[in-house]
Amino acid sequence: WHHNALSVVVVGASGDLAKKKIFPALFAIFYEGMMPKHFNIYGFARSNMSDDEFRDLIAASLTCRVDQKEDCGDKMEYFLDRCFYQPGQYGSEEDFKKLSDRMTETEQHQNKADRVFYLSIPPSIFTQVAGAASKGASSPSGWTRVIVEKPFGKDTESFNKLSADLYQHLSEEQMYRIDHYLGKELIENLTVLRFANLVFEPLWSRQFIRNVQVIFSENFGTEGRGGYFDSYGIIRDVLQNHLLQIVSLFAMETPTSLAAEDIRDEKVKVLRNMLPINMDDVVIGQYKGRNKHGVKKPGYLDDKTVPAGSRCPTFCAMAMFINNSRWDGVPFLLKAGKALKSRTAEIRVQFRHVPGNLYSAKLNQDLDRAANELVIKIQPDEGIYLKINNKLPGLGLTLDQTKLDLSYSSRYKTHLPDAYERLILDVINGDKRLFIRNDELEAAWKLFTPVLQEIENREMKPELYPYGSRGPVGAHYLAAKYGVRWGDAL
Ligand code: BG6
Repeated sequence: WHHNALSVVVVGASGDLAKKKIFPALFAIFYEGMMPKHFNIYGFARSNMSDDEFRDLIAASLTCRVDQKEDCGDKMEYFLDRCFYQPGQYGSEEDFKKLSDRMTETEQHQNKADRVFYLSIPPSIFTQVAGAASKGASSPSGWTRVIVEKPFGKDTESFNKLSADLYQHLSEEQMYRIDHYLGKELIENLTVLRFANLVFEPLWSRQFIRNVQVIFSENFGTEGRGGYFDSYGIIRDVLQNHLLQIVSLFAMETPTSLAAEDIRDEKVKVLRNMLPINMDDVVIGQYKGRNKHGVKKPGYLDDKTVPAGSRCPTFCAMAMFINNSRWDGVPFLLKAGKALKSRTAEIRVQFRHVPGNLYSAKLNQDLDRAANELVIKIQPDEGIYLKINNKLPGLGLTLDQTKLDLSYSSRYKTHLPDAYERLILDVINGDKRLFIRNDELEAAWKLFTPVLQEIENREMKPELYPYGSRGPVGAHYLAAKYGVRWGDAL
């Protein structure tokens, strides 16, 4: 299907993301037989390294699959033989020309060659690299695509500038803006769940849904990444992108088709329909150190890379509302935090209670608690379950709340691909369904910029919460204000 030669250039090849995610994903794509036949991988960064040193560097992070086959070692060798390294200055068109010359040598056995550039570099140099790379190393015969990853600016103003600057060098068609949450299996499945099953879509509205919760939590702090994190904070790091993307995909109207533009047209409408976020609906927190059972956990401010006295939020909970006929009045409760009790990401759809429920006496009148809840567990332990009421088997009549449970690990034996594998493969195939369009980011910043400004202007102090806890109490009051409880695993 892909007869052209393909070159993938990772700019910022010695960075953390490249080592942890990008190279392993490229290898996995090859390992699964999804890489075009004639491919080459190039690392580009400032440090001097030979091809062999570069191969050693990435070999350390390549792994064979759990269901590993015997040929894995051979495949790894083959893959590494196709990896090359070119040192260069990030803004230097000359250095990218040198890279291009080397690429041309390896590509030459095919008439046409396509090129992917993965910009795994700090945002401050996005534009200069995009300029130097596109001038110095665009494919002369095939397409050239560029992958960029957040942060896409820090607010509306910086985003608009970045976006205008990038457009000087790249067209919208060439740009692939990654939000790696969209590449997660359960997120891609969201549209299948909703649109390929009769039983969900008719219930997907204010008429039946009381609230929707999108929850992200990590059981570790910023450890070592504090320097980067501190200038962004959890709102820019997780809510404005990952969680908001989930909301827009969750809440969109039925797209005309599964084509990327159709889906993104609907997603952006959701974002544009959202009401401005009310500051009374925003709770921010920051984790503090904790000593538990003799184990000391550092607070955010103990991180040496964090400026003293920082007010940067490592936790945020907020309520958002979509002002359209489907969702009017339904709170979308978003919550994200670092250094919490557990690592999890999930969507919880809490349904309304059964009107005139025959069993209300049996349910001790606590109808809301007994209401159905659909839980989409993004990670870990991927799965989907629906809380239902069931009669406890036996002679009595006691109601039991239990779940219809689809656990991926027991239902499917296949290994779930990492988000980056799916997304890089989509770039190679030119499929933009899971990438963010410029207007989506514009709408997202329009929602979040005023909140970020208010936090600054009011010098809001984050509520402290202990490392490893459930987060600030304020988040529970926020939910309670809407008569909601944050869901807990059954
Ligand atoms: C990144 C954030 O986008 O997502 C990190 O910058 C966060 O702070 C990470 O840890 C979480 O991703 P995942 O895939 O591990 O849930």
